[in-house]
Amino acid sequence: MASILFVGPGAIGATLTAWLCQDDRHHVTVAARTPFDSIETQTPNGVIRAKPRVFTDPAQAQHADWILVATKAYDSEAATQWFPQASGPRTRLAVIQNGVEHIARFENHFDRARIVPVMIDLPAERTAPGRTVQKGPAHLVVPSGRDGADFLALFAHANFDARQTDDFTTAVWRKLCLNSAGAPCAVLLKPNGIAHHEGVAGLMRSIVRECVAVGRAEGAVLEDSIPDEIVERTRRAPRDSGNSMYADRVG
Ligand SMILES: NC(=O)c1ccc[n+]([C@@H]2O[C@H](COP(=O)([O-])OP(=O)(O)OC[C@H]3O[C@@H](n4cnc5c(N)ncnc54)[C@H](OP(=O)(O)O)[C@@H]3O)[C@@H](O)[C@H]2O)c1
Repeated sequence: MASILFVGPGAIGATLTAWLCQDDRHHVTVAARTPFDSIETQTPNGVIRAKPRVFTDPAQAQHADWILVATKAYDSEAATQWFPQASGPRTRLAVIQNGVEHIARFENHFDRARIVPVMIDLPAERTAPGRTVQKGPAHLVVPSGRDGADFLALFAHANFDARQTDDFTTAVWRKLCLNSAGAPCAVLLKPNGIAHHEGVAGLMRSIVRECVAVGRAEGAVLEDSIPDEIVERTRRAPRDSGNSMYADRVG
């Protein structure tokens, strides 16, 4: 059994909390900014529900084996308010966010040796506080090792594609390449359909090429074909769909 404090119950956080609560062995509490009574997640295979304790004041937090953080990156500093009450010398912190700086965002507030960075590919949307839609399968990647394995074991009962890798740097840069291609949709407030416009597709390819170049300089192994593959993937998506950057701007 593991005690878990989940900080940031938004699209990703509430969806993962709903899954964690399906395993009776876990004791899950939620650290929220906006309160709610229960969680209801529409998954591709039906609705799952959960009723974890929800705290909104960091002083309410109790010691946990695991702290899982899934705030937006820009709320990372605020998320650390939950750490003093919730952490002990063996507590581990899983950072479930996009980007490539999972450890850097938290190492001033938590022993970096006990931070587990998590790459997540999971299309999720929040429709109201505590209400989410999981629109497709979940893929989780963590660095190889005991902490990564223990984190993935928390979701052993869920039907996730969960993997360890010896090359986490490549995994997160590959995901950032995909996310970076979403910038034109967010800036123009247009869904994925604009990738069919040759000028926009060209812009997406340039942005991804830049991301590939920086990622390679950081040690990631990224193929030249990635920009074209991402544009093709975007074109295959429903024209009215959008990435989470776009969804945030549309509101
Ligand atoms: N959504 C996706 O499909 C998706 C897919 C892959 C990766 N990601 C990544 O996953 C991460 C989370 O994204 P998201 O889409 O789940 O974001 P989100 O829906 O905006 O959820 C973030 C949650 O964090 C809460 N929060 C902010 N500050 C807090 C604090 N100090 N204490 C407690 N809770 C706090 C927010 O509270 P409020 O309820 O008050 O807003 C919100 O519930 C991001 O790095 C994102 O890029 C998202």
